[in-house]
Amino acid sequence: MHLHKFEKIWLAFGLGSLVLFLAIIGFAAFWKGAHPQSHIETIDPQNVEAHEAFKPENLGLREVADGKYTVNIVASAFNYDFGVDDDGKPVKKIRVPKGSTVLFQITTKDVIHGFQVAGTNVNMMVEPGHVSRLETVMKNTGEFTVVCNEYCGIGHHQMFATVEVYEE
Ligand code: CUA
Repeated sequence: MHLHKFEKIWLAFGLGSLVLFLAIIGFAAFWKGAHPQSHIETIDPQNVEAHEAFKPENLGLREVADGKYTVNIVASAFNYDFGVDDDGKPVKKIRVPKGSTVLFQITTKDVIHGFQVAGTNVNMMVEPGHVSRLETVMKNTGEFTVVCNEYCGIGHHQMFATVEVYEE
């Protein structure tokens, strides 16, 4: 069978792209730990408080063991609810020591939101009716901005918070 020169070039280009993109996906998944949310747990979006993790008093940061933390968040247009501080003000910043293991658990009461901690591998889609979870080790110190990366309406750009990782 005779293949035209250009046909060979394009065939090589196509196969090469396929191999390259599979390698990129493999690198992101196995070395960088990126993966889609695989938690099938469902929740009633009209009544998220019925879930233990999303009761108002359980929102926000909690140390569950030495160096292990859980952060429970309820997203809604256009806010991340991390609970309130001792003065009754909404928490907009959480602080964890470097090297700690943090489990983020988040759900939404209304539409689809995003939950990305920019500069880390925490990047989740938050769908109504589902609980999104991701556990990660905070390896680097600094202030990381939490952003909503799914367009959710007029106040989309106002949905943000901060995660600070400090040196112990
Ligand atoms: Cu919430 Cu965009």
